[in-house]
Parts: sequence; structure tokens; C-alpha cells
Amino acid sequence: MNNQKSDLRKKIEQTLSYIRQQTQIQPQIGIVLGTGLGALVKEVEIEKELSYRDVPHFPISTVETHAGKLITGHLSGKPVVAMQGRFHFYEGYSMHQITFPIRLMKFMGISTLLISNAAGGMNPLYRKGDMMIMDDHINLLGDNPLIGPNDDNLGPRFPDMSEPYSKRLIDLAEQIALEEKIKVQRGVYIAVSGPNLETRAEYRFLRSVGGDVVGMSTVPEVIVARHMDIEVFGVSIITDECFPDALQPADVSDIIKTANEAQPRLTLLMKRLVEKL
Ligand code: HPA
Repeated sequence: MNNQKSDLRKKIEQTLSYIRQQTQIQPQIGIVLGTGLGALVKEVEIEKELSYRDVPHFPISTVETHAGKLITGHLSGKPVVAMQGRFHFYEGYSMHQITFPIRLMKFMGISTLLISNAAGGMNPLYRKGDMMIMDDHINLLGDNPLIGPNDDNLGPRFPDMSEPYSKRLIDLAEQIALEEKIKVQRGVYIAVSGPNLETRAEYRFLRSVGGDVVGMSTVPEVIVARHMDIEVFGVSIITDECFPDALQPADVSDIIKTANEAQPRLTLLMKRLVEKL
């Protein structure tokens, strides 16, 4: 693409100009408050809350448990912007819609993205309730947020993916986990579209191709963050055990309960990580 502004960049700049009328904060860190990370917002000294409804070009969240607010403020003394409520591919949003908020956060000033999700554990050493630091991922969504014309001002046509999750942040987080005596696994997240959970044959397949956990989010946001050279740290909460030869029917209320139980540990880990950034 030449020097002409892409439609995407025009949209980001329109949204940014609305945001700038509402808040002057230049956030250093962006946070996607996924499953199990909602309570982190209680630790944020909130400066401004904007409903997604009022933010130009933002999709509106369809999942009722997700509030749909963009929050700015300070966490552990650092300026942050947080998304309360995220968008999933299975809800029918396009990859561009799902990842637009990440583009905006970059233009607001972030250089680091913290992200979380709920996932099914396929590694037989993982237990329900464990947390897994994301070390790598496999995109099996069948789509990619970078498809379409590339705006070279946002990032390269063929972005490198040799380190999707920052080794520096993983090392810091493992050090914190050790100090705080929090059990953490480290592994590979596979993203699928959902919304159905997997069959036994699918879990067997996903495990055999190199996945430790499987979930329905996060990877689009991470791809776009890396496209714009944002450093990423991600955590999965293992909400159910997906061992094909001993598979129990999935219980969504139990999945949510498990995610909520892990919340204090994940909140502590993220808060301490922000302190060190
Ligand atoms: N599969 C996909 N997504 C999930 C799962 C699962 O088993 N558990 C929680 N999110």
C-alpha cells in the first residue's frame, strides 16, 4: 500500500479522536479482560469508562455476561487501557471487528498487551483449575485478521511469528509465580472457532498436532498485536479436562465456576507483572 491512508487507518484515527476528547491518558499497557480476569478491573484506579456503544467503529458485545466497556486508568501506578468484554469469532464478528480494539490500543500508545482465556486442557499432566502461560499458539480458526490489503504503516505484509508471546514477560511471570507459590504450566494454545466443544476424535487430533489446551479466542488479537509489534503475555485457565479416552460431558456452568475460582491467582499474577513492567 502506498502513502494514501487505508480505510482501516482512517477508522482507527476517527475512533482515536473520539477517545482523545474523553481522556488524555496515554496507556502503556493494554489488557483484554477475558474469562478469569474480570476481577482485575477492581484493582484499576479507574479514570474513565466508555461504553462500547459510544465508541465509533466498535462492535457491540452480544454475550450478556460481558459488560462491553473500554476502561482507562492506572494499575500498580502504570497507565492502562482495559477491554471489559471481548468479541469472539463464533458470535459472528469478522476478524477485523474482533481485532479493531487492539489496533486502537496501539494508537492510544500501548507497547504491551495482557490477555487471558478459558481453555480445555489436553495435556494429560494438566489439571482443571491450573493456569497455563501461553508459550505459543496454533491458529485453526480457518481465518486470519491480516487477510486483505496490508497497511504498511500498521505493520508488515508478512509479520514474523517466531516469538508470539514475549520470552521476557514469560520469564518475569514464572519468577513471580515461584515467589507467590502459584502453580503455572507453560504450553501451546490451539484456537478453534467453536461454539460447540470438541468431539473425542477432535481432542485426539488437536493433542497430536501439538496443542496443550484448546479454546475459542485470543489468537486473532495476538496476531494483530504482533503485526503492530506489541509485546504480548497470555494466560489460559484450564476449565475442563479434555482427555479423549475419559471424556465427560462438558458443563458450561462448571467451566465458568472453575474460571472464577482461578481469578484471584490470575489477578495477582497480572498485577505483579504490571508492577515489574
Ligand atoms: N474447547 C474449546 N474451548 C473451551 C474448552 C474446550 O474444551 N473449554 C473451555 N473453552
